[in-house]
Amino acid sequence: MCGIVGYIGTKKASPILVNGLKRLEYRGYDSAGISTMEKDEISLMKDMGRVKNLEELPGINDLEGTIGIAHTRWATHGKPSKENSHPHMDNSKTFSVVHNGIIENYESLREKLKSEGYTFYSDTDTENIPNLIHYYYQKLENEKGIERFLKAVRNACLDLKGSFAIEVICKDFPDNMIVVRKDSPLVIGKADGENYLSSDIPAILSFTRTFYLLDDLDFAVLSRDNVKFYDSDLNPIEKEVKSIEWDAVGADKNGYEDYMLKEIYEQATSTRETVGTRFQGAKTSFDELDFTKEYLSSLTRIYIVACGTAMHAGLAGKIAIEKLSKIPTEVDIASEFRYRDPLVDEKTLCIFLTQSGETADTIAALKLSKAKGAKTLAISNVIGSSITREADLSIYTHAGPEIAVASTKAYTSQVVLMNVLAIHMAEVLENNDQTYLDSLKKDILELPEKVEETLKISESLKDFARKVYQEKDVFYLGRGVDYAIATEGCLKLKEISYIHSESYAGGELKHGTIALIEKGITVIGVLTDKDLIKKSVSNLQEVITRGAKTLIITNQDFDTSAFDVVLTIPETNTFISPVLAVIPLQLFAYYVAKEKGLDVDKPRNLAKSVTVE
Ligand code: F6R
Repeated sequence: MCGIVGYIGTKKASPILVNGLKRLEYRGYDSAGISTMEKDEISLMKDMGRVKNLEELPGINDLEGTIGIAHTRWATHGKPSKENSHPHMDNSKTFSVVHNGIIENYESLREKLKSEGYTFYSDTDTENIPNLIHYYYQKLENEKGIERFLKAVRNACLDLKGSFAIEVICKDFPDNMIVVRKDSPLVIGKADGENYLSSDIPAILSFTRTFYLLDDLDFAVLSRDNVKFYDSDLNPIEKEVKSIEWDAVGADKNGYEDYMLKEIYEQATSTRETVGTRFQGAKTSFDELDFTKEYLSSLTRIYIVACGTAMHAGLAGKIAIEKLSKIPTEVDIASEFRYRDPLVDEKTLCIFLTQSGETADTIAALKLSKAKGAKTLAISNVIGSSITREADLSIYTHAGPEIAVASTKAYTSQVVLMNVLAIHMAEVLENNDQTYLDSLKKDILELPEKVEETLKISESLKDFARKVYQEKDVFYLGRGVDYAIATEGCLKLKEISYIHSESYAGGELKHGTIALIEKGITVIGVLTDKDLIKKSVSNLQEVITRGAKTLIITNQDFDTSAFDVVLTIPETNTFISPVLAVIPLQLFAYYVAKEKGLDVDKPRNLAKSVTVE
């Protein structure tokens, strides 16, 4: 879980690299470092802590090199320390490498290299890479020119098991850089007489809008005004240039105090973007999908597989997909699914939900499903992300870049897109009343306006947050879709405020959890499904009797006099009520975390993309 940046051009590399790293800090921030090509040697500067520490290192402004690589780390192998931070160099200081990913066979590689006389100075898996490259480079001494460098990198990569995005510079080739990726993200931004590298597009969007996307084990040899691509056998290959239309400002804070707050407030726009033009014809359009009536009728099951917040969006999406398509639909946690030998075959459609498109467990679950013969559909927010290149089919949430570690607008866009997909399936299957489907479409199209309204209404929760922020435990309750919403609200609170919280399906309460309810404890109830309101109210009565104080999020009209705080949000179809009802819960978590003085954008121990298992 790290971020990497690179630059090759005519400008001083170090400020470009440091700025790029700052934009990638959401991927990791326990240490940072850069290497630049200086006259006849490679410089190396690194330190523990945030990129700011690196920026303040004496001498960093004196670096003149116009080629460089950089890294912001989130420790996996080896504790956060200066020695373990990247870049790493080989013993002879010929190569410098930054790496994002995990080398699974690092122990055996280390033993092999030690037996060849190499010494290791860090505990990382990465330090193998420059030494392995050096090992092959020595063996290839009869090769001439850049071929020798390229072959050494390629031979080293073929020995690596695991995931990697790697940038390499070599003292003997001061005008080149070689990069490669496998199961970890890396993009190349092409500009005039210069090339940029990054783990994601927003970090370098202010420099260029044209990008090359690498597939697994594509090797790229960069010079200032050229990029040459090779496959894993080192045959030259062509790569298409992709243009990105995102606004660079879209990736900035836009005047908000934090990215998370900005992203919460962007949800009217992002959900509108998600729907796009899909409802413009009489039937919902998904040109990217090839779902025929025959194919959908042949399905025995749909799996929605994801992690964290995306999995919670899956819980909400399942309800719409199963009800509207009438195909049994299950939601599974990717890290469980991949190891339980799931019953998946060609009659299964597997949907993989992931904001980043880089989550290791979700990608692995997709590969497994594909191998078992299922059709795979990726739903991601990141165009060209790893998962979309593995899946049979891909559709995008188009929520725009999500920078804050805690996911907000990606969640609401995922819920919206799964509802649009559910309608599409129902229309293809022709097994639903079209008037009902059209009314759901109308409700979806009205969401952005209602999101705006909900945002305003939810601001009143600041007061409640002030009452709760010092508490140790908070409970969330809901039934049906409201349980799915409660589960996401609960995760938001725990991840950014560090308050222990649990979410329960209302009916489960009396099977154990109620033992924890005592005087003064906070219980948050979500009550948007009118068919289940009475049941949920009686669960809440049970906690009130035991002294709990309650906050209710509802869009229904019923007797709420028993509750301490009631937030009434706009009504909508139950399938899409998570889009509105989650907003007060996101803001409540945000206000609590701010009240505690915490860094909401970068909560402790968390990184934006979990690209390792
Ligand atoms: C929580 C959060 C995480 C992610 C999870 C999956 O706010 O952001 O739980 O949802 O790590 O990430 P993606 O969607 O990128 O696969």
